[in-house]
Amino acid sequence: MKHALIIGASRGLGLALAGEHLSRGWQVTATVRAPSDELHAVRDGFGEALEIIAPVDITDQEQVAGLAAYLQSQWFNLVFINAGILLGRGQQLTEVPESDLNAMFLTNAISPIRVADQLIGNVHPGGMVVFMSSVLGSVGTNDDGRAELYRASKAALNSLIRSFCARHPQLDATVLAMHPGVVRTAMGGPDAPLDIETSVAGVADTIEQRWGSGGHAFVDYRNQVIPW
Ligand SMILES: NC(=O)c1ccc[n+]([C@@H]2O[C@H](COP(=O)([O-])OP(=O)(O)OC[C@H]3O[C@@H](n4cnc5c(N)ncnc54)[C@H](OP(=O)(O)O)[C@@H]3O)[C@@H](O)[C@H]2O)c1
Repeated sequence: MKHALIIGASRGLGLALAGEHLSRGWQVTATVRAPSDELHAVRDGFGEALEIIAPVDITDQEQVAGLAAYLQSQWFNLVFINAGILLGRGQQLTEVPESDLNAMFLTNAISPIRVADQLIGNVHPGGMVVFMSSVLGSVGTNDDGRAELYRASKAALNSLIRSFCARHPQLDATVLAMHPGVVRTAMGGPDAPLDIETSVAGVADTIEQRWGSGGHAFVDYRNQVIPW
């Protein structure tokens, strides 16, 4: 049985990714920064196939180190770092408070890489590390500049993913920067075109299709390559 570690699974896409992989017969370890009734409800359906670990705030280095210590010597076929935030929605860069600027880059760009660095020894040879990025992180397709802070934070994540791969040439894993589509979650909003189920099914299919391919790629939930 394959084992997935999903970081940031309290709600939205992370919660649904946990359910999707459990439905596909995986064992899942899911982390949250605060108790999630929704995730506990998933455990009621799947029992011991789902382990929940809390609190894991990815911006808290002590908590991340604690997670790594707790997971020492456990293998995961898939490490999926999903957690992310969107602050300053609709605001010009100049209007966004300094604290929000810092939080966006710390949460969306720096912390996912720190988590991956801590957990790299837990990735099963031939496995996969997936970072939840966004098509908005594509510098090459940035023609309209909207959501510029969020966009920049995901572009920074993408750059750091490539640096992570370069720093770990010995890593025997496929590394993906994943765009899940524009999805009706708290972040995506009620008018987003995609429902959560379609998105996570596509993300899980893409993971299966890319399994064992090696190297790194920026792809969407339909396994379409996105320009960096
Ligand atoms: N929805 C979209 O259209 C869309 C499009 C492209 C990319 N994405 C990306 O997909 C990922 C999930 O987004 P979503 O739409 O599911 O958003 P969401 O419903 O707002 O969920 C965000 C998740 O991230 C967690 N999180 C945020 N900060 C965290 C931290 N410091 N430590 C640990 N967990 C943290 C949240 O936990 P709490 O419950 O504790 O807040 C929650 O589980 C994000 O990386 C987002 O940027 C989303």
